[in-house]
Amino acid sequence: MSASLPEFPWDTLAAAKATAAAHPDGIVDLSVGTPVDPVAPLIREALAAASSAPGYPATAGTARLRESAVAALTRRFGVTGLSEAAVLPVIGTKELIAWLPTLLGLGAADVVVVPELAYPTYDVGARLAGTQIVRADSLTQLGPQSPALIYLNSPSNPTGRVLGVDHLRKVVGWARERGVLVASDECYLGLAWDAQPFSVLHPSVCDGDHTGLLAVHSLSKTSSLAGYRAGFVAGDADVVTELLAVRKHAGMIVPTPVQAAMVAALDDDEHEQVQRERYALRRAVLLPALRAAGFSVDHSEAGLYLWASRAQDCRETVGWLADRGILVAPGEFYGPAGARHVRVALTATDERINAAAARLS
Ligand SMILES: Cc1ncc(COP(=O)(O)O)c(C=O)c1O
Repeated sequence: MSASLPEFPWDTLAAAKATAAAHPDGIVDLSVGTPVDPVAPLIREALAAASSAPGYPATAGTARLRESAVAALTRRFGVTGLSEAAVLPVIGTKELIAWLPTLLGLGAADVVVVPELAYPTYDVGARLAGTQIVRADSLTQLGPQSPALIYLNSPSNPTGRVLGVDHLRKVVGWARERGVLVASDECYLGLAWDAQPFSVLHPSVCDGDHTGLLAVHSLSKTSSLAGYRAGFVAGDADVVTELLAVRKHAGMIVPTPVQAAMVAALDDDEHEQVQRERYALRRAVLLPALRAAGFSVDHSEAGLYLWASRAQDCRETVGWLADRGILVAPGEFYGPAGARHVRVALTATDERINAAAARLS
């Protein structure tokens, strides 16, 4: 099976990583979006308080968790009309994305549409299920074909691009007419800087009708819980019920202490705002430093990445930065259209971000 999957992209960065690590003041690793800030005390306390968990948790999650997820989407993102039965916890959203086409029973006759520049796991999930894969950002690129599943990701990893309400509405309307399922990966929805992103479940996008729509929400970035493996999927109640029915058999269950921690994270907006502020400050340091060093920075109006270019092949840019002790991800990891960009993550300590800015100047 692994032979049908691409080479694990980060494995190809070993040489650049060794170069960057040789910098006398150490590497600044901006190549992955892994959070570095401490988990908020109220979340850790909730995890610890739930640590005596001898019995199996329910795959559907506790009623309390589903309530908290609905309340958080309503409060933070203006989602309306979501019922608790239409929410399902997942073991981090990478897990859900990697298995979604399989869980839906898709196969060789089906087409999965992923953005031209995209988080690699959309492609991996389609490959695991053996579906056809089409990279497209516009509906006109799809012509008359009717895919089974179409991914949206706004704000985008890697580009930080935010899709406007009109764009989202158009995709939802088009998909509805054809019975296509839309999976909107909203991992970075809470991290907006220069543009306002919308959930696919927001009434201005879907008119309050969640039929054929899934919103995928990770707690990894906004609550710095990547190590807990915590996310959920919400939207079309029938699709969520079907996913639950399969996942119950497959043992895809979020541990009880993590479910309790998720409740604490979803009920509290303050720690999220503190985290957002940290990233805003890091962005305010790194963005001008990249520009001053001659990079152009495209999109990047939201999310945790700067999509930067020196108008040369991305591997050359990776090398140029590695010579300065800075490791970034080549744009080609995310699709052929990224061949002349690099993705620079904001997920490093203030000290390391300041070091990167100093090395660029
Ligand atoms: C676009 C996108 N979706 C999903 C994920 C997966 O997040 P997790 O599995 O931690 O929930 C990531 C992680 O980087 C991402 O960038």
